[in-house]
This record gives sequence, structure tokens and C-alpha cells, in this order.
Amino acid sequence: MSLRTITKLAASVALIALTSGAAKAADNVEVLHWWTSGGEAAALEVLKKDLESKGVTWSDMPVAGGGGEAAMTALRARVTAGNPPTAVQALGFDITDWAKQGVVGDLGEVANAEGWDKVIPTALQNFSKYDGKWIAAPVNVHSTNWVWISKKALDAAGGAEPQNWDEFVAMLDKMKANGITPLAHGGQPWQDATLFDAVVLSLGTDFYKASMIDNDPAALSGDKMKEAFSRMEKLRSYVDDNFSGRDWNLASAMVIEGKAGAQMMGDWAKGEFLKAGQKPGTDFVCIRFPGTQGAVTFNSDQFMMFKVGEDKQKAQLLMASAIEDPKFQSAFNVVKGSVPARTDVPNTDFDDCGKKGMADLAEANEKGTLFGSMAHGHAVPASIKNAMYDVITRHFNGDLSTDEAPAELAAAVAAAK
Ligand code: BGC
Repeated sequence: MSLRTITKLAASVALIALTSGAAKAADNVEVLHWWTSGGEAAALEVLKKDLESKGVTWSDMPVAGGGGEAAMTALRARVTAGNPPTAVQALGFDITDWAKQGVVGDLGEVANAEGWDKVIPTALQNFSKYDGKWIAAPVNVHSTNWVWISKKALDAAGGAEPQNWDEFVAMLDKMKANGITPLAHGGQPWQDATLFDAVVLSLGTDFYKASMIDNDPAALSGDKMKEAFSRMEKLRSYVDDNFSGRDWNLASAMVIEGKAGAQMMGDWAKGEFLKAGQKPGTDFVCIRFPGTQGAVTFNSDQFMMFKVGEDKQKAQLLMASAIEDPKFQSAFNVVKGSVPARTDVPNTDFDDCGKKGMADLAEANEKGTLFGSMAHGHAVPASIKNAMYDVITRHFNGDLSTDEAPAELAAAVAAAK
């Protein structure tokens, strides 16, 4: 073979590699997310498969840790290096914070053509849009004021679903007497804060709004807040000694295996029960945290799109469109434990907890009792949220007394503002 032929051959091999590389990049999404538990992975698979069926391949970038704190740290490194992933799972104020930095993409082409404005609830749009532009595609609505109870443990404790705080405490006492850990919990700041969301809400919707959303110093430091911390202290007494650092899904497993009676957690916990083959009503029971019936603290996972090269924009828009497909919203959320991010998805395929979740959300939206979850980045920006986490966790671990905690909380929030 002559040198000329070899050179020609090498050039065409390079060309083939380049064009196939370009075609691949156009149809590939690199996705940063924190869906690493069994239930979450099962839901993620629904999304991956859906995209694959539309010709979009998936490069996985998982960063474990509920609430997404670790994921946001990993993201910062990528954005600083000028190389953001194509799509990123993100929550509430984190989306707005990134948008303010001018690094996010624009989904307007798809959002306008598909009429997202009309079907995605305003509470979600407040985060999916920045400066009037669509920058993120909401995939679900979760809520945090749930309790997941083992049916067997509940029956052994008398069988009645607790309706208020006193009945809840009475149920936990019976579970303790029956020799199991009453409350399965993982001692991580975001999990402690998830309990706190529900406890604060149980002391009144006005109180939740005043303290968690408006950050009114009087509400943060007053007697009602002391009552909230007193309830947290009581809840702590029902947690086992090994709770520190435990992942949330391992806490769910304790309830699934009958070692613990109940878990207070967002409805991603349902994904774990389902993955383990358990059925609502038969193996586990879902109730709103006693005292919060009629109100919902929500968080919505959204796929925020970053500014990427032209070669990746087509895949970004394909992914955004696939996520908002009503059929996909049903199939995905049935597995994830959440409810659809659109108002026009039928509840037919959802189990009883999912149906309740959808009805509760609609009712709370109607009544003005739908609030962003503080623990999951939908009430205040990360700086204030982290200040709250710190006080809540110190108190939960016994490093701060119930008497002192409200003033500490108000001071921490003031300093973070
Ligand atoms: C997310 C859920 C996730 C959970 C635990 C929440 O912040 O919204 O999608 O399942 O964290 O990882």
C-alpha cells in the first residue's frame, strides 16, 4: 500500500470517527442526579428507557445524598471547569440560584410548542422559569409531610391510624412496648429537617408560612417554635441508638422488615416499599403526619438544563419534551412514589397512596395550604436552609436544649440573610 493510500485511508477513518462521534453527542445526555437507592434507581430506569426509545442515550453521573447537597457541590465543580452536564436534577431555590449566574439553557422552544404554561402548576413554574424563560422541566411533585407505617406494627399497636399528635405519641409508645424501634430515622441534617418540616406544619399552616417561608423573627423565636423543638425532642426518644448517619432508605428498610414501626419521610420512601414488593393498605400504611391533614409541604424534582454546545441542545430539548409527556409522567411517578408535575395526568395507574397524594395536592393548592418544603429547598434559598439545618441537627443530637433552640434558629436565619 502506498503512503498516499495510507494517508487517505487514515483521513477517512478519522472522518468516520468524527461524524459518528458528533451524531452520538447530539443524541446523548449526561445527567447528574442523586437517585441511587433501590426505588429511585427503578424510577430512573423508566426515564432512561423512555429516552432510549426516542433515540437518546444516557451517560450517568450519580452523586448520592438526599436533598441533593452533595450533587450541588459536584455540579459546582463541573460548572466552574466550564463543562456542565447536559441535565441536572435540582430542587427549588437551587435552580433559581444557578439561573442567577447566567449558566442555564433555554427550553422555550419546546415549552411553548407544548403549552407547558397551561398544565404545569404555578407553584412549580415559579422555579422552572427564570426571567420568564423556561429553564427546567419538572418531573414530579413529592411531599414531605407523610408517615409510612408497617401494617403489622400498626395492627399490633391497636390498628387505629393516629389523627393527632397525642394519638401519634400513643402509637409510638405501644410500638416501643411491643419491642420494636418505634421510629426509623437516619441522622443526617436533611433528614432531621424533613421531620422538622412536618412538625412545624402540624402546629399550623400560618405558623409554617410565617417561620419557614417568611422567616418572621417572632415566629422563629417564639413559644410555638419551642413547642416544635419540644416535639422534635420527643420524636428523638423513639429513635434507636444507631441512627447517626444512617441513609434514609436503610431507615425505610427497617420498617419494611418489621424492625421499626414507622418512618416520617417524603413519598420517595414509597418507592422503597414498592421495590421490596410491599403493597399499600396490606403491608404498609401511608398517612399525613398527624395534625397536617389538608396541608402539603412539597418539593419537585426538576431537570435543569445548562448552557451547552449546539451539538447537545437537540438532546436537551428531546429530554425535556420526553419528561413532560403525560404518559411518561404517569409511568415514572407510579414507581418513584411522587405525583405528576402536570395537572392533566389521570390517577388511574396510581395506588391508593398515589391517589391520595394527587387529591391532597389539588386540595391544598385550592385552599392555599400548599407550601414549599424547607428541608428540600422550596421554602428558602440554600444559605438560609443550611443555617436552619445546623440548628435543627444540633438540637436533635442533644447539643442544644429545647429552651435555647428557637433563639438560635432566629439568630442563624438572621445571620444567613
Ligand atoms: C428528592 C427525591 C429523592 C430524595 C431522597 C429528595 O430531595 O426530591 O427525588 O428521592 O431526595 O434522595
